[in-house]
Amino acid sequence: MVSDVSRTAIGVARLRAFESQRPDRLFNDPYAAAFAGTPTDADSVFRLHVAIRTRFYDDYLLSSGCRQVALVAAGLDTRAFRLDWPADTHLFELDLPDLLAYKEKVLTTEGAKPRCERTLVPVDLREDWPTPLVDAGFRPEEPTAWLIEGLLVYLSAEDAAKVLTRVTNLSAPGSTLSCEHRDRERNPNREPATEAMRRLVSLWQGGLGTRNAAWLTDHGWQVTTHDGMALAESYGRAEPGYRVSNFLTAELSPA
Ligand SMILES: C[S@@+](CC[C@H](N)C(=O)[O-])C[C@H]1O[C@@H](n2cnc3c(N)ncnc32)[C@H](O)[C@@H]1O
Repeated sequence: MVSDVSRTAIGVARLRAFESQRPDRLFNDPYAAAFAGTPTDADSVFRLHVAIRTRFYDDYLLSSGCRQVALVAAGLDTRAFRLDWPADTHLFELDLPDLLAYKEKVLTTEGAKPRCERTLVPVDLREDWPTPLVDAGFRPEEPTAWLIEGLLVYLSAEDAAKVLTRVTNLSAPGSTLSCEHRDRERNPNREPATEAMRRLVSLWQGGLGTRNAAWLTDHGWQVTTHDGMALAESYGRAEPGYRVSNFLTAELSPA
């Protein structure tokens, strides 16, 4: 059905379903459980990280001030259906065709209705995706809030830089962007603790590693980094023994 890399989106949905059941949940994703699949022993490693990251990116998107939103590698993200978008918001979801077909099948069965204008753009992000995006109605002259959540690590450094170059070329002044920020290289000698972790780590190509922030700064973005553990603390969810990675937000000055 879907490729191994797209299967990672099912794991993320499962963790959002888990968070949605908590009385102290940081968000409610009512559709996540419909995608959830079988639990694996990698789930607990990422549970808090996904909870914090989902809430952080929800807040980022709703406060961006942009009416055009692009989810780059949207996966099984249901923000189009669950967030209270300002009127006239147009949201684009880009991901591989097989993943988006699966997502639509499930959402149709669930009777989900988007709360903004929503357009799917089935693409391989290593190829020419700006053309199909613009053909689908994306307006490069409008400021865009970009979200690149959980993607770059699955790409080579070259492909990750190409995605960021294309995003930058499509960004009018006033655009914003958010993605993960790594401030330390992964230890290549660290053995994955479980079989599920080993399968996941085998899909990682590393992206730009620790260089997302520097790349964006060099290409005209004003970057702010956000400490994941400090965010967990601010949400009242700093759970001992869990790790939360860091994030960045960036903006292009308004004209
Ligand atoms: C870990 S999931 C994250 C999905 C979503 N952003 C989230 O956080 O729930 C990674 C996503 O990247 C997508 N992806 C990986 N490589 C891709 C490529 N070359 N083109 C398009 N999508 C890709 C996968 O299909 C998958 O949906």
